[in-house]
Amino acid sequence: MRILAIETSCDDTGIAILEVSKTGNFSVLSNIVASQIEVHKKYGGVYPMMAKREHQKNLVPVLIKSLKESCLLKTNLSENFTSVKKSDISKILEREPELLKKLIPFLKKYERPNIDLIAVTNGPGLEPCLWVGVNFAKALSYFWNIPIVPVNHIESHILVNFLASPKLLAKAGPATALVVSGGHTQLILMKKIGDYKILGETRDDAAGECFDKCAKILGLGYPGGPVISKLAETSLPGKITLPRPMINTKDYDFSFSGLKTAVLYADRKVKNNPATSLRARSKEYKKQMSAEIQQAIIDVLLKKTIKAAKDFKAKTIILGGGVSANTELRKQFKKKLEENKYGFFAAAKKPYQINLLVPKPNLSTDNALMTAITGYFHKNKKASLKTLKADANLRISK
Ligand code: KG4
Ligand code: ZN
Repeated sequence: MRILAIETSCDDTGIAILEVSKTGNFSVLSNIVASQIEVHKKYGGVYPMMAKREHQKNLVPVLIKSLKESCLLKTNLSENFTSVKKSDISKILEREPELLKKLIPFLKKYERPNIDLIAVTNGPGLEPCLWVGVNFAKALSYFWNIPIVPVNHIESHILVNFLASPKLLAKAGPATALVVSGGHTQLILMKKIGDYKILGETRDDAAGECFDKCAKILGLGYPGGPVISKLAETSLPGKITLPRPMINTKDYDFSFSGLKTAVLYADRKVKNNPATSLRARSKEYKKQMSAEIQQAIIDVLLKKTIKAAKDFKAKTIILGGGVSANTELRKQFKKKLEENKYGFFAAAKKPYQINLLVPKPNLSTDNALMTAITGYFHKNKKASLKTLKADANLRISK
């Protein structure tokens, strides 16, 4: 079967086409992401209404690119565009007029592609952005008569890890999944697919948000994660010490806003000191600060994830979300699990090593391939066009 997936939960416009063989193996026909970084860079963050406008602009061109790459874009030979269909699609895209303007000529020009299922992210995320994707999916579903499956964005950050070996999913649980992105930081217990429990989450800022805000304070640009990680590569934390909020609490919750505030105060101190201001805010200072910010975040994420894995006797630790693209974070998780070979379950009858799953960096950040994979695993949960909604606060479990 072939799945067309749409992901617009934040500031990336993603469309992917996934082919699933009869034996259940995946092959990626296309995975296109149009990034809005250039647009949001100027403001140092994402403004939902601006992101919505960009999605409206990008969706049809990204769809064309995705279909073309999958050899599924064919010019229409017969006229099947009636005024009834036009008026129904206009109703579906009532709130996305710019998208409608691009979609109508596209539907007139091209044939229905050979697709069996549409998967779309319907939450959590930025409400206006989610709605663009959901309404776009509805318009295509209606016009081409293809069923839709709604996809939870957090679950898709987890399940993308099963791209190479989908059959591993049945044997992965219990697993503890750490989803760390610009909008979310959650530690989730996955017993099996569909059976999730949120063990803990951030009480304030997400880990990615912390990277972004710290980078803004240091004048490093947006998004913060990649810049901080790059600067940190060539430095050790040095003399700067930042707090590791909540690292020793018994729960599985996180808090990152205090770390950002500590960076703000530390930075003010050096800035306001005329004797040191120039020298202190040198490249070297920014490098050391970056290394310490990154290490503080990694320390907390690693400690709590390992604690959860031990407490719940996890067979697998799964990482996902933009922050899991961080090279140092990946390295330190891997090292920790290798060091502890058989250590965690010394008391268990048969000690075993915890398996670590981490997506490729381009699949850590938002993309529609993860939406397609998740849509496949939930292929039987089709939604009706009438009731399908975007939900900015959608939870993976109650
Ligand atoms: O998952 P994602 O693409 O979008 C959301 O759903 O939020 O995550 C984006 C976040 C941003 O905060 C960005 O700074 C962070 O992921 N990020 C990184 C890295 N690459 C992206 N953080 C740390 N290290 C990276 N290499
Ligand atoms: Zn995400």
